[in-house]
Amino acid sequence: MTRDSDPDDEPTDNRRPQTDGGAAAGADDVTLDPWGSATVDDYRKLFEQFGIESFEAVLPEVPNPHYLMRRGVIFGHRDYRPVAEAMRNDEPFAALSGFMPTGDPHIGHKLVFDEIIWHQQQGGDAYGLIADLEAHAARELSWEEIDEHARNYVLSLLALGFDPEEGELYRQSDNREVQDLGFELGAKANFSELQAIYDFDGETDVSHMQSVVTQMADILYPQLEEPKPTVIPVGPDQDPHMRLARDLAARMRYFKVTEAFASFEADPDERAIIAEAHSVLSERHPDETIRCGDAARYLENERDPDATDPNATTTDSVIMMLKEAGKEPLRPRTRFLDRNATDEAFDALIEAIDGEKRVYEAHVDAFDLARAEAEELARQVEIDHGGYGFLSPSSIYHRFMTGLTGGKMSSSIPASHISLLDDPSEGYDKVRAATTGGRETAEEQRELGGKADECPVYELYAYLLSGDDDEFATEVYEECVNGERLCGGCKEQAAELMEAFLEDHQEKRAEWEAKLDELDIDFDSDRRRRR
Ligand code: TRP
Ligand code: SF4
Repeated sequence: MTRDSDPDDEPTDNRRPQTDGGAAAGADDVTLDPWGSATVDDYRKLFEQFGIESFEAVLPEVPNPHYLMRRGVIFGHRDYRPVAEAMRNDEPFAALSGFMPTGDPHIGHKLVFDEIIWHQQQGGDAYGLIADLEAHAARELSWEEIDEHARNYVLSLLALGFDPEEGELYRQSDNREVQDLGFELGAKANFSELQAIYDFDGETDVSHMQSVVTQMADILYPQLEEPKPTVIPVGPDQDPHMRLARDLAARMRYFKVTEAFASFEADPDERAIIAEAHSVLSERHPDETIRCGDAARYLENERDPDATDPNATTTDSVIMMLKEAGKEPLRPRTRFLDRNATDEAFDALIEAIDGEKRVYEAHVDAFDLARAEAEELARQVEIDHGGYGFLSPSSIYHRFMTGLTGGKMSSSIPASHISLLDDPSEGYDKVRAATTGGRETAEEQRELGGKADECPVYELYAYLLSGDDDEFATEVYEECVNGERLCGGCKEQAAELMEAFLEDHQEKRAEWEAKLDELDIDFDSDRRRRR
């Protein structure tokens, strides 16, 4: 993975204190490095470069979307549809995210806290975890520091509305199931792969690598009891972890379900060409058996290779395969490939397939089974035979907040962010001192309007201070860009709202503090490594 080369960025040295992003300008390439400085210059590039999808496209499928979704703060997702569907149908689903206890929780973390809590309120199983093993391995924090920060993260998550009776809070270091699952998942990944994804090298310590498989286990942990759609709300810097977790979930499966037309394997591009040949020929000769050789001849003689195949070599390879198969009938079917199944599970699957089927050495073809049914069956057989049957985890991505001083919001620059532990009056002062998108003079502002889109204060309104009140957020925006709002008054209002928010939040923290002992989470590590 390429690293960000913007000279203004924090060094991407793993040992540096964590910075939490902010949209720094100037970087050409989008980089996603979980332990680097999180900067995303252009969110749209993430769609093209990494296959993250725009959240806007699924928004209509989400019942009562959260304001962070409505306002585009949550801008992207991977595979969120199954989660939205479960929500609509009152079916089980889960949400989980993790926090590295490297400093105080701040208003950037609040986005993720809110996302977990919202999914919990929509009926999901909710999980908040403290990534203490990661903090110790990747950031080299001492256990004393980690304990203190862990406590603070948990208190804020609770104060914001996480229900610990319904949901689960845990520390990686105390969760034996997570560590066991991490061990198993680690058997499906090797060093070269981690090197390619995370830029690890010969100097990377083993515990850091272990923290990766631990995170993979965190992500799949909600599915240990039964597979269910699970969303992981994170910043886009965590996307490399999501891609690996999705891969590992698939690699653990007993069976892979695909579609096919004949006994040989074809990749999706090849299959599309075969499907087309099949559909043309079966329309022409509805009552005849179509054979692979017929399709080869059709492709060779009649099909314009440029029509749907920009890469003519794909068609060539398809023709070869079809010729090879010769007289074999060409028939659409659903295929179960044996990936990790035990012999008993493979036999049970064969037994469970209804209708016509054909059994091969390492796969079974079913002729009367639709793809979705086949997926369901494969998962059920896997679970009945002791497998996990994981669904690929989904993710949603939020924008990073701009720092109050411009540039990015960074834990290491106190004036750039507001800690959830800041004294309310300090929060007030930081907002009053913030950079704005305002003009040089009041006259100019009245005439041209402010630049709300570039204003960290407007962000505070949109991301936090307006809460669920879209009308208020819109009013601030409109008044700003129309020149009816001047920065002094605007910041005063924001500062007061921030002060009130912090007061309220800290009161709730204090209430939870008194009840913290009742929770099943230990803030005194008995780990002893000193650094
Ligand atoms: N790596 C995450 C961070 O840097 C923390 C984390 C650990 C996490 N496990 C997780 C996030 C599982 C989401 C899901 O903050
Ligand atoms: Fe920002 Fe408010 Fe000034 Fe507009 S009026 S630029 S939103 S501080």
